[in-house]
Amino acid sequence: MDLILKGGWIVNENGRERADIAIAGETVAAIAAPGALDDLSAAETVDVTGLHLVPGAIDMHVHFREPGYTHKEDWETGTRAAAMGGVTTVFEMPNTHPPTRSVKELRQKQDCAKKACVDFGIYGLMAEDNVDELEALAAAGANAFKCFMGNTFGNLPSPSTGAMLEGFEIAAKTGLRVSLHAETASIMAWRQAKLEAAGLDEPLHHIAARPEIVAIEAVARAAALAEWTGARIHVLHISSAGELRPLAEAKARGVDVTGETCPCYLFLSTEDYPRLGSVIRVNPPVREPKDAAGIWDALMSGVVDMIATDHAPHTPEEKRNPRIWDADCGFPGVETQMPLMLTEVAAGRMTLEHYVKISSANPARAFGMWPMKGRIAVGAHADIACLDLARREVIAAERLHSRGKITPFEGRETVGAPIHTLVRGAFVQRDRKMVEGMAGHGRQVTDIQRMPAPAPRNEDQSLAAILSGAAGTAAAPKAEDAA
Ligand code: DOR
Ligand code: ZN
Repeated sequence: MDLILKGGWIVNENGRERADIAIAGETVAAIAAPGALDDLSAAETVDVTGLHLVPGAIDMHVHFREPGYTHKEDWETGTRAAAMGGVTTVFEMPNTHPPTRSVKELRQKQDCAKKACVDFGIYGLMAEDNVDELEALAAAGANAFKCFMGNTFGNLPSPSTGAMLEGFEIAAKTGLRVSLHAETASIMAWRQAKLEAAGLDEPLHHIAARPEIVAIEAVARAAALAEWTGARIHVLHISSAGELRPLAEAKARGVDVTGETCPCYLFLSTEDYPRLGSVIRVNPPVREPKDAAGIWDALMSGVVDMIATDHAPHTPEEKRNPRIWDADCGFPGVETQMPLMLTEVAAGRMTLEHYVKISSANPARAFGMWPMKGRIAVGAHADIACLDLARREVIAAERLHSRGKITPFEGRETVGAPIHTLVRGAFVQRDRKMVEGMAGHGRQVTDIQRMPAPAPRNEDQSLAAILSGAAGTAAAPKAEDAA
């Protein structure tokens, strides 16, 4: 054995046990009653008495900014922040410069990611002008697609519904899930122009430009396209109570749709805008206390499947702007998600088991990494966060490992923190300090991801079938039939 972790509690989504755990290479080799592994020889044995061992968090939504915006973050600083936050796998977004919209750009990003110290997936962009690249992107190793239905940092144009429908037809054949920035661009552009023309530029006007109808409309429309095509979709950063209804209805109809929310939508609200000013600006916006309450309920009931962070670092200068329209959107989050959520576990709001489900097991299943990730079990990757559930810390941007040194959670007290983080059997964080020399340990999850294609629907009416002449439908009579 390479490593034995002795004396801890092992916690999975369905329960906990006091057990010792042996790791050989990258995977868990044995889990046994306390003391039962004492006769095994191991290169190292670490006493984790008093700690709770959970599967490392899988954050489906981070922006690591490289290539293109490395003054905000890069793959090394971003994955160091992840390691410090108990996050062992991240999925990284394509709104870099250049955006990840072709195989060439995917290769460029894979090159940047060579310095990652945690495991990762890479999103390929689904846009108006790259529908013909999607199959090649999937074949070349993109782990999922990202579709910006609404504009945000990077100002990538949103695809028309026509392009999205064809994109979904192709995605259904690849099996990869399409993650959606579900805000409708045309509503927001219209309203922001009117607000700006009227000279309205306070922080709360950001919500006025993006009322919850932008999310309700986008989720409902995307769900209809997914239902029609059979594509799998994922609703990113759920911010409103309103969008929960089209999400729940789509799930009830059997659409393969998952949903995520982020700590800012659970812990902040309109009440924080006066105090935080433009620092709180994020897309979609932080909304009313009733929205946070609705999202909490949905996270507990399973309508919202997982917690992610939308880790979106910017510099303090980019965030602090007198006109809200000039402040960059988003803030770092990958390092603070776990302590913030564990604070709620400590307060009795959710069990640690439920936290494991929403932070690790559900993302692993939705994006095809189960059974190698998302659980602590024999044969699975030894991706483990060792938690001290009583540890008190205070969030301070200055101490974050991200390059983004500004957070709306500044000064917040947390209870519970990852003391060690292991990625495939190796410590990347130990005793609340980074283990140096681990840049490059992180690996893309392509080798373990299993996303068999779902059953595409209405395939005979897909553009591919019609244009190839394969469709025998009334919509596309074959030449000889027409003759
Ligand atoms: O506020 C945001 N910032 N929302 C997003 O969806 C993107 C992100 C960014 O990249 O800065
Ligand atoms: Zn994002």
